[in-house]
Amino acid sequence: MIFRQLFDQTSGTYTYLLASRHGGEALIIDPVLEKVDRYIQLVDELELKLVKAVDTHLHADHITGLGALRDRTHCVTVMGETSKVDVVSMRLAEGDKLTIEGLALDVLYTPGHTDDSYSFLMRDRVFTGDTLLIRGTGRTDFQNGDARAQYDSIFNKLLRLPEETMVFPAHDYKGETVSTIGEEKAFNPRLQVKSVDQYVELMGNLKLANPKMMDVAVPANMRVGLAQEAIAQRGWAVSAVEAMALCGRSDVALIDLRERSEREKHGVIAGSLHAPYGDLAANVRAGGMLNELARSTGKRIVFYCAFGERSAMAVQAAQDAGLTSACHIAGGIDAWKKASGPLLR
Ligand SMILES: [Fe+2]
Repeated sequence: MIFRQLFDQTSGTYTYLLASRHGGEALIIDPVLEKVDRYIQLVDELELKLVKAVDTHLHADHITGLGALRDRTHCVTVMGETSKVDVVSMRLAEGDKLTIEGLALDVLYTPGHTDDSYSFLMRDRVFTGDTLLIRGTGRTDFQNGDARAQYDSIFNKLLRLPEETMVFPAHDYKGETVSTIGEEKAFNPRLQVKSVDQYVELMGNLKLANPKMMDVAVPANMRVGLAQEAIAQRGWAVSAVEAMALCGRSDVALIDLRERSEREKHGVIAGSLHAPYGDLAANVRAGGMLNELARSTGKRIVFYCAFGERSAMAVQAAQDAGLTSACHIAGGIDAWKKASGPLLR
């Protein structure tokens, strides 16, 4: 396995790059905008293909690298379903799996620092975001933070993991790089409380100054969505309502770009073909499955995904490959559901 812990000195942020093998798919957790060049360089050096970029929560102390990484590598952006970010490509909830080739991380909803804080468990290690830090815990005094919820996330989820589980947080300001669940249980001063009320009182008396970047970072991090308007302006988008009228037409091929788990959880549009986003490049190039389908049948390719991000990128790729009638459903299945579009489960 490839595992890199990268550091942004300005914000004290740890970013993690994971891959199951040299030359394989990679995942990045909590990337920082200013370090995007470095991440891309490292990904290239290790001959990896970055396929997912994930934030553990909406950060207040740095601008996320999610949008820039998506724009430059066409990776899928991922956050938790409770996040107020405008658009990410994929949203996960407790019990879901965050997967790339050869790796599957369990998604734990661990609110408290913010109401959109998630942790990701990968066998012997857990990425705790700002929920559990090394000898500390993330502050709970803004972004819908809630010390009571954080106590529950820490004591009833994270501390129940095996004691030897390694803890990799999103931040450290003293140069600590890794801990374990057992170590934090024993030595984290914030966790030596006797009750939730005592924890709430402790967290309420921290009197911390707001992060320097907060007024810039929070609004910037709320708007990481791809400019789907650019795709629409070229006439390459249909609304969910317009898409309903296209369903069942013999000259249209609806293509679902989501992963199998998303299809199972949220349902599929009847008659659509499954062609996961990860295989897109191979599918749209000359000789590829979708390229052949469009050319041999004359069908119009209509892509859809969860929120319209992957499908917008797919339209661009298909157009670049000469499939000039390709379009997508703006807003994806999310918009389709809001328009009361029927789904098969
Ligand atoms: Fe944070």
